[in-house]
Amino acid sequence: MNAAAPPSPYVRIGGAPVVRAIANRFYDLLEQDAAYAELRALHAADLGPVRHGLTLFLGGWLGGPRDWFERGPCIMSLHRAFPITPQLADQWALAMTCAIADQEDMDSDIADAMTQAMGHMARGMINFGLDAPGASAAA
Ligand code: HEM
Repeated sequence: MNAAAPPSPYVRIGGAPVVRAIANRFYDLLEQDAAYAELRALHAADLGPVRHGLTLFLGGWLGGPRDWFERGPCIMSLHRAFPITPQLADQWALAMTCAIADQEDMDSDIADAMTQAMGHMARGMINFGLDAPGASAAA
């Protein structure tokens, strides 16, 4: 690592514990708040694996350990399997906005930038279900 490089956002927000807290808060909201019922219903009954996956993804995305990125398909390809409507993308973005906002000690510049980037990414995944199993190839 270049000794002169500025600390990554991952380091600046507090590393693994804070990233894990964001991912856990995100899935807690999906489980507890009826506003996210449609999004929750698309996920498996056991949210343990995705809590772990989102923690690793966000950590790497913020400049921390890149294990998630080294293991396989990119996040956009992975989501082509799910029928993502604008409503679902908005639910995802809102839950992530709240999960980030709930980290009271987080650097506010990074929190704002992350909120915005995650919202763009979620909306970039909208596919109206055209790639979902059973969807019409002609649609
Ligand atoms: C920035 C946007 C998003 C990010 C960063 C993200 C991240 C993730 C990650 C890391 C996983 C676990 C994958 C793994 O580690 O193997 C996952 C799974 C999943 N995501 Fe997303 N996601 C995003 C948006 C969305 C949206 C908009 C939807 C709406 C439908 C969605 C639905 C799902 C579903 C259904 C799963 C699989 C869950 C399961 O198998 O239980 N995601 N996502």
